Amino acid sequence: MTERARWRELLARYLRQRAELGQRELYLESCTNAELLERLRAPAAAGGVAREADVIRVDAPAVREAVPVDAPGSGDRFDELRADALACTLCRLAEGRTTVVFGEGDRHADLLVVGEAPGYEEDRQGRPFVGPAGKLLDKMLAAIGFRRDEVFICNVLKCRPPQNRDPVADEVAACRPYLRKQVELVAPKAICAFGRFAAQTLLATDLSLGRLRGATHEFMGIPVVVTYHPAALLRNQQWKRPTWEDLKVLRRIYDEAGGRAPGGSRG
Ligand code: URA
Repeated sequence: MTERARWRELLARYLRQRAELGQRELYLESCTNAELLERLRAPAAAGGVAREADVIRVDAPAVREAVPVDAPGSGDRFDELRADALACTLCRLAEGRTTVVFGEGDRHADLLVVGEAPGYEEDRQGRPFVGPAGKLLDKMLAAIGFRRDEVFICNVLKCRPPQNRDPVADEVAACRPYLRKQVELVAPKAICAFGRFAAQTLLATDLSLGRLRGATHEFMGIPVVVTYHPAALLRNQQWKRPTWEDLKVLRRIYDEAGGRAPGGSRG
């Protein structure tokens, strides 16, 4: 077997394994997993394995993603993911950021909190939800029994958009793999999406927050409750009551899904 054929064989096996694991996305610059398999199958004369350039464009985070979570010798995949995110330059936000805000909290939490993107204070400190919205988030979590350190808190975007503008579709697309991986590795029993961007990104929909609230959704098989973003609540007091209703639903769904009793509700 030639060196080239051996690489072709190895890569084809790797892609088949990914597909079997249900990992249908592979982050290449110029083609999808399916297109790459197609090219690898095609005879060299038709542009098959001769397209080595595509092969070497498989990036490091994607390669790591192929290793099952508990694979022996896989090392600490959460720390690897964090390191990948901290070094990320996949979108323009890398240029203006002070820090990458990967997320924080209990990496084995049963509750995952997802917000939109770091703001000024988060960008400065490298921690999510530490500004005024974060203070309110802590209170909202406490209202349903959770301390901040008992949940995992992250954002759709890991870098601050300039002047806190709304995330742009290609930024969300570039960052989504990190979020998916965080969900996979934390493996929470329930997710709370705070605000429209978190909800729309997790649920892959354009529906408004108003349409998404009040129902339980799913992301990667995990129940998702959608509610107002704490920053929006700071501006709109009239949304406090409906948010409280959402939080009660979240706690019920968390309990029903077998989430561990948070410290705040003990004794
Ligand atoms: N708003 C968010 O969505 N996330 C943060 O981390 C801070 C403010």
